[in-house]
Amino acid sequence: MKQDLKLPAMKTVKPKILYYGTPVILLNTSNEDGTTNITPISSSWALGYTVVLGLGAGGKALENLMRHGECVLNLPDPSLWEQVERLAPYTGKDPVPPFKQSMGYSYQKDKFEISGFTPAASVNVKPSRILECPLQLEAVVKHIRMPEHAPEFAVIETEVLQVHAHEGIVLGEHHIDPAKWSPLLYNFRHYFGLGQALGTNFRAER
Ligand SMILES: Cc1cc2nc3c(=O)[nH]c(=O)nc-3n(C[C@H](O)[C@H](O)[C@H](O)COP(=O)(O)O)c2cc1C
Repeated sequence: MKQDLKLPAMKTVKPKILYYGTPVILLNTSNEDGTTNITPISSSWALGYTVVLGLGAGGKALENLMRHGECVLNLPDPSLWEQVERLAPYTGKDPVPPFKQSMGYSYQKDKFEISGFTPAASVNVKPSRILECPLQLEAVVKHIRMPEHAPEFAVIETEVLQVHAHEGIVLGEHHIDPAKWSPLLYNFRHYFGLGQALGTNFRAER
């Protein structure tokens, strides 16, 4: 028997941005003088040990990665959202490009100082890690591409070399416990944590 399902009414919309809810990453890159810049981003996907990032062309993170292709992808949990937001109005670019000035950004050299995060030396790459973030991925840049249709952005392919995890979220030797780890999500410029667990994939570790 056919069920009488009520389908949602639809509308065509044109949102200014398509930040549809992805994890926040604090992207650490190396400045010219060897200090570490921290850039909050939310544009990424991971497959195997490849992580692809989306970066604005006018930011310090891209400049740094083009000069020195090493980085750390630090994943904060929801408890760290206010420290992440403290970084939000700043750029490591000096002088601040006019388009960023008009959006209200100002220059900040020491992103650790402004956010209150603690640096930790990396093992394989030059930029330091962020101790408070439960997952810290050391990575190298493999490819940078500016899409023809959107030259104001860059697509960065990275290869993860080493994963550091807070012991409290590790199950056994090598598994991340999904009951303990929770990403900080950026959902149309609002911060969220995860909701309740719904179910388990047939390949999930138990
Ligand atoms: C939560 C959050 C997510 C963001 N996501 C991105 C992103 O995916 N890509 C990007 O280029 N900028 C993103 N931004 C904006 C950058 O953080 C901002 O342009 C910053 O000034 C860049 O710093 P930098 O110039 O020192 O690299 C995001 C900002 C916040 C607060």
